[in-house]
Amino acid sequence: MREWASFDTIIKGKGIWLIDSKGNKIIDAVGSMWCNVWGHSNPQLVKAITKQTKQIQHSSLFNLTNEPAEKLAKNLIKISPGMNKVFFSDNGSSAMEIAIKMALQYWKNIGQTKKTQIATVENGYHGDTFGAMSVGYVPEFFGKFKKQLFSTIQFPVPNKYRIPKGFTYLDYQKDCLEKIEKRFSKNDDIAAFIMESGAQMAGGVIIYPKNFQSKISKLCKKYNILFVLDEIATGFGRLGSMVQYQEQQSTPDIVAYGKMLTGGYLTMAATLANKKIYDSFSGEFNDWKHLFHGHTYTGNPIAAAVANENIQMYKKYSLIKRIQKTSKIFLKYYEEILDIDIVGDIRHKGMLMGIELVSNKEKKIPIQTKKSINKVFFEEGKKQGIYLRTLGNIVMIVPPLSIQDNELELLLKRTIKTIQASKSKII
Ligand SMILES: Cc1ncc(COP(=O)(O)O)c(C=O)c1O
Repeated sequence: MREWASFDTIIKGKGIWLIDSKGNKIIDAVGSMWCNVWGHSNPQLVKAITKQTKQIQHSSLFNLTNEPAEKLAKNLIKISPGMNKVFFSDNGSSAMEIAIKMALQYWKNIGQTKKTQIATVENGYHGDTFGAMSVGYVPEFFGKFKKQLFSTIQFPVPNKYRIPKGFTYLDYQKDCLEKIEKRFSKNDDIAAFIMESGAQMAGGVIIYPKNFQSKISKLCKKYNILFVLDEIATGFGRLGSMVQYQEQQSTPDIVAYGKMLTGGYLTMAATLANKKIYDSFSGEFNDWKHLFHGHTYTGNPIAAAVANENIQMYKKYSLIKRIQKTSKIFLKYYEEILDIDIVGDIRHKGMLMGIELVSNKEKKIPIQTKKSINKVFFEEGKKQGIYLRTLGNIVMIVPPLSIQDNELELLLKRTIKTIQASKSKII
């Protein structure tokens, strides 16, 4: 951490630009931690916040409700096929904690006590709280807490860049799915299968092959296991669809949204459940079937108001179509990026690109250095006028979703320069 002795102070934002206290302007290539939709200081979103601020700023969802939260629940159900009810929270990790609790308690509520295990995939990421860490175990991030985390059953995900020797990509996928089915069929103890929807983000930008997710959802149905999806980082257009599970033809029992839900302006997340799950929680007071979970800011009216405006704007400005079109700009730069001698692989979908850095292209050896690759890229990026972050040896490009074609071109040109300038500092 010592390398971060001081931080630049951001004092303003406009569109894709962040402006610091010294007047430097940098492109927000991180989408302010993957959540920004319309750029910074969007007048419509700011207006929605200001308007709601004058009505009621916060009133709890304990024993009461509020109009923006009610409206948002309806909006979310409308865009989420198969879902029936919404449980609000204020960050993605909490939304996943809620998903885990809902899934485990569901079986208790219906009198099934054997189903207590959670199945997940290797290198998934669902947040930094203990439950979320347990189901999204990334050794580098969470190793120090291993003893305190609850155990899960983990399965591999096919990574097209690292296909095991002797396998084709298809064999590899089949093998991963067979491992899942073998375990599912062995013992009826699994309550839920939890995975990110469409792709793993923090785990290395691993984009699932076609049908992989839908086949897992079918296995879950076959073996009576709840299917739980995390769309916190990959839904709401990040991968080019409003609802990623629709594109993946894999309707879950429970799904979590966060990040882009408020356009990236305020902190809010939601866990949605289908009717089967919801009904299991509704009983008489004495049945004790409630979900004992709640946060102070659950359903905050200002956050809900800006989320409603955000969702309305997706429709009004056909954002998903725009993303699908603008996303093609990434393809134009594939070759140029891949030509750089430390770039081993590019993985891209929608408004997401992961660039994997290697020290040996042939052998696909990930770059390893005693220095922080992230810090080097951050400093070099800043010189090019871009806010860039890496996760391990992966450069993440996660811009505001409404980025214009010419802005994305500029961002990618600056990224290329940053990789070239960083090279000598990390090898
Ligand atoms: C897929 C996924 N799930 C959950 C989270 C946790 O969200 P939050 O940081 O809002 O707690 C993240 C955060 O990056 C994420 O990428």
